[in-house]
Amino acid sequence: MAEVACHQVCQARVRAICSVDKSRRGISGQRSRTRTVRTTPLPRYNVCMVRTLSGIQPTGNLHIGNYLGALVNWVKLQEEYDAYFCVVDMHALTQRPDPEVLRQAVRELAIGVLASGVDPERATLFVQSQVPQHAELAWVMMCLTPLGDLNRMTQFKDKSTQQPDNINAGLFTYPVLQTADIALYRPEAVPVGEDQDQHLELARETIRRFNFTYGGDVFPEPKTVKSLAPRVMGLDGESKMSKSKNNEIGLFETEAETWKKLKGAKTDPARERRSDPGTPEVCNIYSYHGFFSTDEQRAELAEGCRKATLGCVDCKKMLGTNMESVKGPIRERAADLRSKPGELDQILAAGAEKARRTAEETMVMVRDRIGLAGGK
Ligand code: TRP
Repeated sequence: MAEVACHQVCQARVRAICSVDKSRRGISGQRSRTRTVRTTPLPRYNVCMVRTLSGIQPTGNLHIGNYLGALVNWVKLQEEYDAYFCVVDMHALTQRPDPEVLRQAVRELAIGVLASGVDPERATLFVQSQVPQHAELAWVMMCLTPLGDLNRMTQFKDKSTQQPDNINAGLFTYPVLQTADIALYRPEAVPVGEDQDQHLELARETIRRFNFTYGGDVFPEPKTVKSLAPRVMGLDGESKMSKSKNNEIGLFETEAETWKKLKGAKTDPARERRSDPGTPEVCNIYSYHGFFSTDEQRAELAEGCRKATLGCVDCKKMLGTNMESVKGPIRERAADLRSKPGELDQILAAGAEKARRTAEETMVMVRDRIGLAGGK
């Protein structure tokens, strides 16, 4: 994880606020033209609580890849940061989902985030479409993003292959909306999986371009916070766990459902018979033990695998049990939340209200700087 010490960030922020260096060269290498840079007073915020923002798409059911790759990190980050977590339903529109399916997926995702331990008393959990400023800032960012940069995005190329009949403009400008999601909350840290590195780099470039063009103190440059598990492999052991690859272990699955999948999952191909010794490091099942089992358990499994004193079924059984001790309580909390829809509505309404407040603060500055109506 890219650790950012609190005092460093505070100092950087104070520097950014106090001195806008007008002679600085921008990313295009040109010297800043002399233009009247308006100085909008910045809103007051708690200088020692650094802000973080992340987003997650409501497409399909949560799986342990999402849990380990994103949610575990979110739960940890809410302790140290002023955290904003966004269910990005507008991004999901790029796949043209059925409206009812989308609405349901948003709720299920919010339930999963809360059941995993995101605490609405600490973090701000909200739905993107409840904060119209995302679309507004996306347009501004669109006008600052060169077409050529978007053309290089590998996710656009992948998605275009996956959905050849629906290569819409939203798919192409997806990273610009993501830039707006980030910029709107002026976070200094953004936790994402490694598949989002390219989008974050683009976001940083656009943010730099905004600051350079309109005065350098509106947006901090967000750092990427690497996840503790940036890449969780799917059950096939061939690609990252994802619903589209049908290789996932669902977060809400029962122990029996998970066992059915584990039973059939590939292990080290060298272990054809129980008496064949194996190499734990090449085994996908052993890689999951890295997330769910203790050091002692792993040492015991590794030795048993190498010496062929322990079979793959035993190894999988221990994994199933250890996974269940994580998934079981999450499943229970999710069931509880599902039984109280009013409570979820309230949490999301309060989150949206807070998010809108911060977003509007940003937009007042942005409109003011760029010459649109609705500035201060
Ligand atoms: N594109 C991200 C993903 O697929 C989701 C996302 C949307 C996001 N907006 C964001 C992540 C802003 C971080 C910050 O995982």
